[in-house]
Amino acid sequence: MSVIFDSKKKTFYLNTNDTTYAFLITPTGFLKHLYYGDKLNDFDIDLESLSPKFKWNLSPEYNSKKEDSFSLNQMLNEYSAFGLGDYREVSFKVTYNDGSRNNDLKYVSHEIHQYKSPIKNMPSLRGDNELVIVLKDEYIELTLFYSVYEKENAITRRAIIKNINNNIVTINSIMSGQLDLFGNDYTIVSLSGEWGKERQIIKHPLNNCIIKIDSKRGASGHSQNPFVLLSKSDTNEYSGLAIGLNLVYSGSFVFKCEHTFDNLVRIVSGINDFDFAWELKREEQFETPELVITYSNCGVNKMSQQFHDLYRNYLINPKYAFKERPILLNNWEATSINFTKENLIKLINEASKYDIDTFVLDDGWFGKREEGFDKGLGDWFVNENKLEGGLKPIIDECKKHNIKFGLWFEPEMINEDSDIYRLHPEYAMKSPKGIINRNRYQLVMDLVNEDAFNYVKESISKILDNNDISYVKWDFNRNLTEYYSQALLPQEQASFAHRYMLQTYRLMDYFVNRYPNIFFEGCASGGGRFDPAMLYYFPQIWCSDNSDAYSREFIQYGTSIVYPLSSFTGHVSVCPSHVDKRITPFKTRCDIASLCSTGFELDITNLSSEEKEEMRNNIKRYKEISSLIRNGDLYRLNNPFEEDLFSMMIVSKDKSNAFVVIGVGKLQKSTSKYLKFKGLGDYNYLIKELGVIKTKSQLEEGILLEFTQDYQTYSFILNKQ
Ligand code: DGJ
Repeated sequence: MSVIFDSKKKTFYLNTNDTTYAFLITPTGFLKHLYYGDKLNDFDIDLESLSPKFKWNLSPEYNSKKEDSFSLNQMLNEYSAFGLGDYREVSFKVTYNDGSRNNDLKYVSHEIHQYKSPIKNMPSLRGDNELVIVLKDEYIELTLFYSVYEKENAITRRAIIKNINNNIVTINSIMSGQLDLFGNDYTIVSLSGEWGKERQIIKHPLNNCIIKIDSKRGASGHSQNPFVLLSKSDTNEYSGLAIGLNLVYSGSFVFKCEHTFDNLVRIVSGINDFDFAWELKREEQFETPELVITYSNCGVNKMSQQFHDLYRNYLINPKYAFKERPILLNNWEATSINFTKENLIKLINEASKYDIDTFVLDDGWFGKREEGFDKGLGDWFVNENKLEGGLKPIIDECKKHNIKFGLWFEPEMINEDSDIYRLHPEYAMKSPKGIINRNRYQLVMDLVNEDAFNYVKESISKILDNNDISYVKWDFNRNLTEYYSQALLPQEQASFAHRYMLQTYRLMDYFVNRYPNIFFEGCASGGGRFDPAMLYYFPQIWCSDNSDAYSREFIQYGTSIVYPLSSFTGHVSVCPSHVDKRITPFKTRCDIASLCSTGFELDITNLSSEEKEEMRNNIKRYKEISSLIRNGDLYRLNNPFEEDLFSMMIVSKDKSNAFVVIGVGKLQKSTSKYLKFKGLGDYNYLIKELGVIKTKSQLEEGILLEFTQDYQTYSFILNKQ
C-alpha cells in the first residue's frame, strides 16, 4: 500500500519503491512532519523520538503558559500558517473581515482514496491514489491532497481552501506544498537563465538564509524555471541526495527555500504571493496548482529519470507521450517574416527530397502582417497580400508531396495595428492609466474578458476548421505588465495574474480537446514557458530561440534535469547561428538536434552536397533512434557546466540499444577524450559507427576519441549482440 495510516501512532506513511514520507497528527491537532528519506521497512520505529530536539530559543509557546513547551517554530510542519509563532516562510496567510490574520487550523478528518481527483481548472498529473486531510477553524476549511507514484519515487501535493463563515475571507498567500527537513550543508540548484540561454544549472549554498526562486512575469519565464533541486554539497549525477520540486504552473510562481540557525530547512512553493489577493465568499473555494516532489539518494541523474518517467506516464497527453513525433521543416530561420508564396513552395519542394513529415509555416501569414512585428496579431485571417489564394496553395503543395502542414499562432497577443484592436481596444490588457508597456510592439489579450476569450477561440477555430492542419505551434512572445482587467472589480485586480493563467489553460484545453488530431507545440520566445503545466497540453516545447549547437548543449543539459528529451523541440538551424553568430559543423548541429524531437529550420535549398548527404543520413538515423528519445532512460555523462565536454546517452528500458552524443567546445589544440558509457546491461554491444564489439565493462572504462575541430561531436548507436 502506498498510503498507510497507523491509527495508534496517528501517523501517515507515504511509501514509494525506494522512499518513505511520514507525518503525524499532534495531540493539539497540527500536522508534524517526521521523515522523508530512504524507504522504512520497520514501521514500528518511533520516528517521533528521532525528531530534532531544540534548546530554548525565544520561540513562542503555543497555547501554553509554561516556558519551553510546544512551539510551532521548532517543529517540522506539513503546512504552516502565518501568525502562530512559526517565524519561517509559511504556506498560507488569510485575512478575515475583522482584519485578523491568525489561522489556527486543526486536523478534523482524513480519507484515503484509490483514485486521484484532478484539479478542476488547471493541469495536474493523472494518478490512482490520494490522501485527503481536512483541517478547520471556525472560518475556513483547508484540505491537503497527497498522491503517491511508487515506481517514480514521487509524491504530489496541493491544497484547497474554503470559506465556511459568512464574511469574506481574503487569501494573501497559499502555497501548493511545503517540505520541512532537518540538517545542514544543503545546496539549492535552480535552472536559471535568460532569452537564448534558458535553464542553466546554478548552485546556491543554503546556509542561514532564504533563497527565493521566482517569476513575477505572468509566465514561468526565461529567467527561472518552476523547479528547485535540494541537494547536499557533495551530491553529483550518480551519488548523494537529490530532492527535486517542480510546480505544475505556467504563471508567476515562487519557491522560498529557508535554512535556520538551528538547522531547520523549509521549502514552500506555489503561486507567487508578491502581488496576489483572492477573495472568497461563503462556500467558495480556491485550488492551488500541484507540486511534484521526487527523491533520489543516488544523485541527480536518477532524480531526472524519475521526473522523465513521471511526466511521460502521468502528465503528457497519453495519445502523444510515446508516439513518434513528426520530423519538421519550419520556415522561420530560413525566411523569417519576409516570406513569399514562391519561396515557401520552393522550401516544400526541397523538403520532399527528404523524409520530412511536416512543413510548419511560422509567424507572418495573418492579418496585415508584412515585414515587421507591429501589425496583425489578433487578426487570425490569412494575409492574402502575401499569400494569394490563402493557405490552400501551400497546403496543396504539401499534399502533393505527402507532407503534412503546420501553422504558427500567438493566441494570447494583440497588436494595436490590427482590425480587432481598432474594433475592440478593450480586448487588450491595460491599466486605467492607458498603455504603459509594449514589448515587441505587442499587447497581451485580456483573456479574463470573456468577449476577448471567445473572440480568440472562434477566430482561431475558423482557421483550423477550414484548413487541413495537423500541427500548431503556440507562441507567446512577451510577458505581462499592467496586471489589470476591465472585466474585474477593483478588489479583484490583485487576482488578475492567476485568473489570466486559468483562462489560458481553459483556452488550451478547448483547442487540445476540440482538435485531438492536431499536434500542439508550445513556444514562448524560445523556451520562456517550459514547465510541466505547458507539457500537459503541448507534448513538445521549443527549447530556445538559440539553435546554436554549442549553446544548445548547455540549454538541453539543463532542461534534461527535469524534462524528458522528447519534450524538447530542437532544430538543425542556420549557421552562423542567429543568436550567437557561432559557426559549428553541420554534423554537430544534426547530432545535438537528434537529442530532441527533431526538425530543420534553415534554407535547405541552399545546402552544399555534403550537407545534403549529412541531412539525409541524419533523418535516416533519427528514425532509427527516435524510439530511444521517446522511451529511453537518460544518462548524462559529461557536464558542460563543469568541464569542457558534453555528453548525453539514452538507453532503451530493456538495455538492448543506446544512442550517445559527445562534443567539445572551442579547442586550443587537438585533444583526446574518453567517452565512458553508463546504464548498459551485462551484454556485448556493437558500436555501429566504429564497427567494433565491446563488453559492458570495456564500454564503462571508455573509448578514446580524438577531437581535432572546434565544436566537434561524435555520435554512436549501440546494439546489443
Ligand atoms: C519566437 C519563437 O521562438 C520563434 O521560433 C518564432 O516562432 C518567432 N517567435 C516568431 O515570431
